Amino acid sequence: MSDNKPTSSAPWWQRGIVYQIYVRSFADANGDGIGDLPGIAEHLDYLNDGTPDSLGVDAIWLTPFYQSPNRDFGYDVSDYRQVHPEHGTMADFERLLAEAHRRGIRIINDFVPNHTSDEHPWFVESRASRDNPKRDWYIWRDGKGGKEPTNWQAAPGGKAWEFDKQTGQYFYHAFFDFQPDLNWRNPEVKRAVLDDIRFWLDKGVDGFRLDLINYLLEDENFRDNPRLLAGWYMGKLQDTTYTRDLPETHAVLKEFRRLTDEFRDRMMVGEIVSFPWQQSPAAAYTNREELHLAFNMEFLAVARFRADAFRRVVDRFEERCPADGWPAYVLSNHDVPRHAGRLGGYAIYGHRPYAMDRAKICAAMLLTLRGTPFMYYGEELAMTNRWWPLKDVKDPLGRKVWPLYQGRDACRTPMLWTAEPGAGFSGGKPWLAVDPQAERLCVATASRDPESVLSFYRRLTWLRRNTPALQTGDYEALGAPRPDVYLYRRRNETQSIVVALNFTGRPAQLPADVGGAVLLSSSPARNEAAKNVTLAPYEALLLAE
Ligand code: GLC
Ligand code: CA
Repeated sequence: MSDNKPTSSAPWWQRGIVYQIYVRSFADANGDGIGDLPGIAEHLDYLNDGTPDSLGVDAIWLTPFYQSPNRDFGYDVSDYRQVHPEHGTMADFERLLAEAHRRGIRIINDFVPNHTSDEHPWFVESRASRDNPKRDWYIWRDGKGGKEPTNWQAAPGGKAWEFDKQTGQYFYHAFFDFQPDLNWRNPEVKRAVLDDIRFWLDKGVDGFRLDLINYLLEDENFRDNPRLLAGWYMGKLQDTTYTRDLPETHAVLKEFRRLTDEFRDRMMVGEIVSFPWQQSPAAAYTNREELHLAFNMEFLAVARFRADAFRRVVDRFEERCPADGWPAYVLSNHDVPRHAGRLGGYAIYGHRPYAMDRAKICAAMLLTLRGTPFMYYGEELAMTNRWWPLKDVKDPLGRKVWPLYQGRDACRTPMLWTAEPGAGFSGGKPWLAVDPQAERLCVATASRDPESVLSFYRRLTWLRRNTPALQTGDYEALGAPRPDVYLYRRRNETQSIVVALNFTGRPAQLPADVGGAVLLSSSPARNEAAKNVTLAPYEALLLAE
């Protein structure tokens, strides 16, 4: 366990809850079917109006809304300082920022420093000729024996090198071939990108989510990555020794930190991509000198709804988290199937009967662990995944890489606000089809039902907001009666709270010495008495000791 004991004077990004908005899919104010910044501004009260009727979040993370050819929906940036007209104007952004701040909601911009779009003017220049002054801003290499310079593979699969006919060299891309990697060993690149970051800090944004941050630098000597495993299908899998988590990346992050530290109360959270068998790699990035937070993305890979699977991730991170670091957990995001489906037992259509109960268990865990919770828009409604014919897939991951895989559209369907056509997301034709379950799941319906997942989230977030031990108290895993019950304690100098989560559809008896006053339960039948507790099926229970 870490000996980090922040008090209530802990920074907002340790105490607070962050809500991720996939800008394209949250709210469309001008009726063109695409989510925009004014749409978000219209829904700030839903996010936090200062009362328990709202979601009670402290910050929102906006996925990239910059100028972009949108081949990877904003993660291919062609100008870091311009708002894409699809999403609004700079004046809209400034208004959103001011409106959010008025309500005490902070704004975190997504920033993509690893690569640009191939339409970014820097790359257009860089690829123009071998002696262009910006040639070295990207990673250009000669081929080796008529083949790629190294065996490096791109994150979504396939080769990481693209041959450019005009100049006869290859350029490197950690992600798609239209997302060339910047050369972070070039001081001019560093200066230019840090300037673009400063531009947003000067505007008053409260921080950044840093895309693919552990891919920032690659091996200076361009050595081949070792093969991971031999075998007929694993043969292509390789380790990322020379393309990810390079020591030099940490040095650059220190410069990022020095820059953000010039401003007050700003926060950076990094996307740390890892293999499932790597143990808590994010712990190496969260500390006083580098990132404030680094996503622990391991819940995203949990495919079975088992208490011990989650507990293992948490206990491991608690063990490795440095004293000046802080955990950050996430159950869903815009890249993977939503957890209401993934952990709720996939259903072809709609939800399995227990999916809502499981969504509540997940929520209770996310919002009571030691660490900053990141919610993904719509998870509070138990929105699930939508699948459609391949010909309609919008996300390139679905089309180009794995022809049978439908990619990330499934988790990016429009937010469900009302039961009207367009789900209150848009008065026009939404860019991606609305979930046909809108009427049952939408905010309007869920708000009327005290037992809905949304109502449960609201109770949890406000309880957390008003309970310092849940925000910054220690975490201590307790021996659970069975591997399918997750039992832990959150404690500070004045409060001690036991969290008991029953991951099964069967009742579960808690150890005799566990008891206290009921702070919150997902079971409507739970009464005051709390000694010799038997958890109801899928009950989430918080007891004040
Ligand atoms: C990150 C983003 C993902 C994007 C990729 C390339 O993994 O989360 O959406 O496609 O980086 O920028
Ligand atoms: Ca890189």
